[in-house]
Amino acid sequence: MNKTPIIIDCDPGVDDSYAIALANSCPDFEIVAITAVEGNVSAEITRKNALCLADMLGINCRVGFGAEKPLVRPYKRDASGTHGQSGVGTVKFPEPKKQPDEKPAWDVIYEEAVKSEGKLVLFAIGPLTNIAIALREHPDLPKYISKFCIMGGGTFGNVTATGAKAEFNIWIDPTAAKEVFEKMTVYMVGLNATHAAALSAQDFDEMIEICGSSESAYLVRELSKFSKFNSMEKGHDNNIIHDALAIASMINPDVVTYENYYVFVEDDPQAENEGETVIDLKGETGKEANCYVAMKVNKPLFADMLKDMCRYYAEK
Ligand code: RIB
Ligand code: CA
Repeated sequence: MNKTPIIIDCDPGVDDSYAIALANSCPDFEIVAITAVEGNVSAEITRKNALCLADMLGINCRVGFGAEKPLVRPYKRDASGTHGQSGVGTVKFPEPKKQPDEKPAWDVIYEEAVKSEGKLVLFAIGPLTNIAIALREHPDLPKYISKFCIMGGGTFGNVTATGAKAEFNIWIDPTAAKEVFEKMTVYMVGLNATHAAALSAQDFDEMIEICGSSESAYLVRELSKFSKFNSMEKGHDNNIIHDALAIASMINPDVVTYENYYVFVEDDPQAENEGETVIDLKGETGKEANCYVAMKVNKPLFADMLKDMCRYYAEK
């Protein structure tokens, strides 16, 4: 069966790492590129982590280096609390063998989209800077994209500095997000969905047990151990595997229920809700729906998909 070509634009990141590992374990997907953007940690670290993840998981794909800063407002994020100093928890990577692509992320995305002849599923699970630049540089990009799915936004926020109306990926670069929502149909897996899919300590225990001592399961085992400790012991939100839910929603349509609404992003820095994905739930704007919003989640199914992922690596 022909595999679906996918690209993952990301800011690895612990949950980004689960997302890449889950996508790589899916027999129906072929990861043709991983592209890195600044977000959870600096671009220097997200870039290196993208190369290391591709190496460790044996993914034969292009790795495109993207934006080092948001389009408008620079932002230095210290996510070491949630993601560890390395950005990937306690995971230890050897120095990467893989080399970055000679083209920047936005050109890699466009080239692979054209090559896919409209079959590409594009995921963005970090700030949307690379996607916005790709659309600025290549305005016909949307016609080559089968589906565009993000982890971001939602019906509430998690960036406390903004009065909790903005979600991190959108808030880091609201101008990029605004442009992307205006130019592409978005499948949006937001915080309302990811929080509803939070894992339990028992879920992590089962994932760790399934991994056993298998060398090929090192990454997902280490991620699971770190996530359990950092959430259950330290109080961070690592039991919410935000990015993996976006991937899972395109693997199994039963894991997330999407509803179609008009959504726009507030990018006025003076607005009290800067970075909010404003969802027209009641159809009051009269504008045509441009977004599929993840509204319901099958949490047990999501947890089972992550356990099956662990089993895939343990049995490799
Ligand atoms: O708000 C959660 C999102 O922000 C996730 O993608 C996480 O990796 C961070 O990028
Ligand atoms: Ca991310």
